[in-house]
Amino acid sequence: MRNPRIVVDRKKLRENISFIVSKLKKHQLSTMAVTKVFNAHPEVIALYDEFPEILYFGDSRIENLMSYHNSRKQKVLIRLPMISEATEVVQYADISFNSEIATIRALNQEAVKQKKNHKIVLMVDLGDLREGFFEREALYDCIQETMKLENIQIYGLGVNLTCYGAIIPSSKNLGDLISIKTEIEERFNLPIAMISGGNSSSLYLLDSSEDMLPIGINNLRIGESFVLGRETAYGADYKQMNQDAFTLVTEIVELKEKPSYPIGEIGVDAFGRKPQYVDKGNMKRCIVAIGLQDVSLDDITPKDSQIEILGASSDHLLLDLTHAERDYKVGDEIEFTMSYGSVLSTFTSKYIKKEFIR
Ligand SMILES: Cc1ncc(COP(=O)(O)O)c(C=O)c1O
Repeated sequence: MRNPRIVVDRKKLRENISFIVSKLKKHQLSTMAVTKVFNAHPEVIALYDEFPEILYFGDSRIENLMSYHNSRKQKVLIRLPMISEATEVVQYADISFNSEIATIRALNQEAVKQKKNHKIVLMVDLGDLREGFFEREALYDCIQETMKLENIQIYGLGVNLTCYGAIIPSSKNLGDLISIKTEIEERFNLPIAMISGGNSSSLYLLDSSEDMLPIGINNLRIGESFVLGRETAYGADYKQMNQDAFTLVTEIVELKEKPSYPIGEIGVDAFGRKPQYVDKGNMKRCIVAIGLQDVSLDDITPKDSQIEILGASSDHLLLDLTHAERDYKVGDEIEFTMSYGSVLSTFTSKYIKKEFIR
């Protein structure tokens, strides 16, 4: 059984990793490779492990950190920990991102129990309105309290942007992170080792002639750029990178000429939505064996530009082959280019096989 599958071109991915880590190194930035988008797949981890420039592996799920606990990279939990997972966080993460003193206290308790020192990066919200301290004084209060905890080390400050609020990183908002760092060092005489200035959306500041990554930012956390070969503030492809290191391959299970407009009274579809159809007469329709439980339709594009996506239910994806020059047959494969969402969802689906080439 080989389909549906995601095909990873190791050579292309290696070239992507090489390009980004060199870029970050040139700017004196350490690299944290974010492993969640490929579900910390061991084959991809092995590839990333080849690069000494990657100092950290970051993931939002503790299960993924557990899966590569033998790697020599420092492991970072980049989503705020749940108090209920404090034991595993201390056991499997060298560093965790935090914004709540209650959680930090729980981590300390656990670190004492496990006779470990646990490092934390305090998250600052600079406007994206996802995680992090919004009020500076609340951050400083938390630092004061944390400094009393014997097994917790304040290792860094971090910000995440362009995730919820879609806020673009700039010298202005990232400059605020540097001024907070300076304030902390002065107020508490506390050196801050890591200033983590965001994700793949901060990369454009390394190339921009209009704006710059402020001096003092010394780390970026990169997930999507490695995988899809582009920066994510504006979605610009790097021409030196491969955008097609990952391909989704599906297989045709039905191919028939049928009308384009459903017959009978239209109610709601499998997901409770009222669909709209355009009557285009008869069409050459096919079904490939993949569905909405694996992938969202917005996140895949047929490589054959003459194929159109019609819709999908949980296990069936319907395509219009009417205008395709190629004479497709049942059993043929149809390939799709992928976006962040589809790499993420297909890697976490047990139904999608993973194939590594080259
Ligand atoms: C806190 C944090 N940092 C970094 C990343 C990586 O983001 P990207 O894949 O855009 O590089 C993510 C998202 O996965 C994240 O949640």
